[in-house]
Amino acid sequence: MREANGDVIVVGAGLIGLSIAFELAERGASVRVYDRGEPARAASWAGAGMLAPYTERITNEALLALCASSLQQYPHFVERIREASGIDPHLRLDGVFYAAFENEGLSTLQRHADQLRGRGIRCTMLDRASALAAEPWLGAALVGGLFKNEEGYVDNRRLGRALVAACEARKVRIEQSFSIEVECDARRVLGIRTDRGFNGARAVVNACGAWAAELRGVPPSCVPPIEPVKGQMIALNVPAGFVRRATWVPGAYLVPRDDGRLLVGATVESAGFEQRVTAEGIHELLHAALAAAPSLATFTMTETWAGLRPGTPDGLPFLGPAPLDGFFLATGHYRNGILLAPATARSIADAIENGESAALAPFGIARLALREPQDDTERRVEERITRS
Ligand code: GLY
Repeated sequence: MREANGDVIVVGAGLIGLSIAFELAERGASVRVYDRGEPARAASWAGAGMLAPYTERITNEALLALCASSLQQYPHFVERIREASGIDPHLRLDGVFYAAFENEGLSTLQRHADQLRGRGIRCTMLDRASALAAEPWLGAALVGGLFKNEEGYVDNRRLGRALVAACEARKVRIEQSFSIEVECDARRVLGIRTDRGFNGARAVVNACGAWAAELRGVPPSCVPPIEPVKGQMIALNVPAGFVRRATWVPGAYLVPRDDGRLLVGATVESAGFEQRVTAEGIHELLHAALAAAPSLATFTMTETWAGLRPGTPDGLPFLGPAPLDGFFLATGHYRNGILLAPATARSIADAIENGESAALAPFGIARLALREPQDDTERRVEERITRS
């Protein structure tokens, strides 16, 4: 390990913040992580761990390239964390199936398959018989689907526990503090002030996910306009192996876990920071899941929960240096935070260590200066930030 090159503070102990801390610590930096809550217990815990940039139908080329690169980095990323922590995060990159229940849906998938092949992405159209052979639990109305070989999922709750242990093994200090505020002078960041006093650092990273716009103490130009986007989920208890691969059906996705849980997600709701599980949300998920697979109806529902995705006005994350020396943003990953953890960690560490940030240019906060707020949500967030 190289000589420590000064203190870095990461605010936010989700998968993004912990991955950045782990990456920097492995490179020899001395890193501290602060969070108001328990590590990896917000969106990092609430997600389903889907690693599926093509299924998510990302249309922005820069974001798609970052997601594809992060997907490629996943096996090595997980291996390093497993080695450091002794915890296996259960990475499965054995494909994602997108099921169609109408011929029109199948034609759309066929066009998508042609586009993916044009990009060199491996995928296979399945007719009804092959699709049912691959995933026999899907209902009789199935007409076929598209199998994307390279996608998959990780058990994000296990990954969170593994990252905490891996960070601790690399001497990263993870601390909880009810109040966290950045301190800076007119030119650069100085550190943060917590319940226990001031902590100096040469670099501070805002990795606060859906709460990133709430981090106080920096000029408005450094505050990312993040809006929480709620997602509700449920878990059913199914026999092991009942669902073989992560599967998308109209209105929901279903992701198996090794312990027999089948996760069904997720709603997409604008509800501020409220995280209630509602009858309507659960109804929406069950309606979509049971329409695709009536056989799921007999299983026990073992868990319901909700989390907050960090949404941004243009759907792109905010990554890289902010206009205050030493202050960095790593937030706004919206539906792809778990997927983007390896690429975010690597590129933010490069930016902090070597000043390399060209690759992050499409995701810089400076892009906001070039555009007007598009809708009420954006105006609301920008007003909130200007007032703070
Ligand atoms: N990545 C899936 C979701 O955000 O619901």
